[in-house]
Amino acid sequence: AARYEFHGAHQAGVLAPVRRSTSLLALDVTAQGAAGLTELLQTITDTARFLTTGGAPRELGITAPPSDSGVLGPEVTAGGLTVTLAVGASLFDGRFGLASVKPSKLRPMEDFPNDALDRAICDGDLLLQFEADDNDVVIHGVREVLRATRAGMQLRWRRDGFSSPPRPSGTPRNLMGFKDGTANIDRTDAKLMDQLVWAHGGQAEPAWVEGGSYLAVRVIRMLVEFWDRVGIEEQQQMFGRYKGSGAPLTGSSEFEDPHYERDPNGDSIPLSAHIRVANPRTPGTENQRMLRRAFNYDGGIDANGNLDQGLIFTAFNQDIERQFVTVQKRLIDEPLVDYISPVGGGYYFALPGARDASDWLGKGMF
Ligand code: HEM
Repeated sequence: AARYEFHGAHQAGVLAPVRRSTSLLALDVTAQGAAGLTELLQTITDTARFLTTGGAPRELGITAPPSDSGVLGPEVTAGGLTVTLAVGASLFDGRFGLASVKPSKLRPMEDFPNDALDRAICDGDLLLQFEADDNDVVIHGVREVLRATRAGMQLRWRRDGFSSPPRPSGTPRNLMGFKDGTANIDRTDAKLMDQLVWAHGGQAEPAWVEGGSYLAVRVIRMLVEFWDRVGIEEQQQMFGRYKGSGAPLTGSSEFEDPHYERDPNGDSIPLSAHIRVANPRTPGTENQRMLRRAFNYDGGIDANGNLDQGLIFTAFNQDIERQFVTVQKRLIDEPLVDYISPVGGGYYFALPGARDASDWLGKGMF
């Protein structure tokens, strides 16, 4: 299984490929003051460093409870795990003396029109995203981080998700049956990441944000019973892509450009189609692109006996207003809104990476 290097200018989970299993945990800090928060962040860093590297857990002696749950056996496998730590606006409310170093665009997530947000599953002081090749590696990671930090933070909300294998090829599909992630920005293009993903310290931002990134999370329920009764033509018109291949309706293969200039009136790809509204590809909208990382979720059933399924939409942004918020506002009245219902999420700032064994996530804030 893969192993992602923990140390670096950026946290590994931002640019790593989407893996099969994820768990997002929002937490509130119960540790007291700057000293308490420092200790908490150091513990999270140390635990994440061990889990993502793998190896034999520490021996605590035969009378103590084992230092590891044993869920992965005697030797902890890295298993393609990344643990990504992000902070919410409420962390900067004064409890920890951090008000003056808040990332300038960080704030609680607003209600957009057509949202049905349950505030119990929004926001939070911290967001931890575990992501790995297998469910047991994710669950083990969640258990170990929570047990090491029990005195310093408590769970606020949690949502687990998964990504599907290619069916039959190309980008994984979401639970509406469409390939999701096709037109994403190229995470291997470092220059592009500098323009669209990484925040930069300077006049607009405190110096410490350099190498971090704004993270938008939207837990979006899909009304799947309703969706499955819509004809395929209409489904394709809503997205602007073919369901089978993922190709734009102006083309025939998945990764083709939609060429809106050849379809100015929307005869092939409606002007209201999701992809066309999200990214009209007109001059001046290039810097609104973001790094999307989508996961499916299955939450069982709701109180009415309907399936609770949907998308955990996550996106990394250099500037959450210029990118996510601008695009989300344009999508407010897209035809797809009849089939989806955003229920939770939040805005966070993914911290810069830990540089080496003596560094810890969030050190620059203090
Ligand atoms: C593209 C589905 C929510 C932004 C797409 C595509 C699909 C899709 C199937 C085409 C394939 C691709 O390029 O990835 C969905 C579903 C959603 C959802 C089912 C909700 C349940 C959102 C939200 C945003 C967003 C909340 C941002 C506010 C985008 C962008 C693209 C895209 C920027 C790429 C457009 C392009 O560059 O051509 N989405 N999406 N989507 N979506 Fe969404």
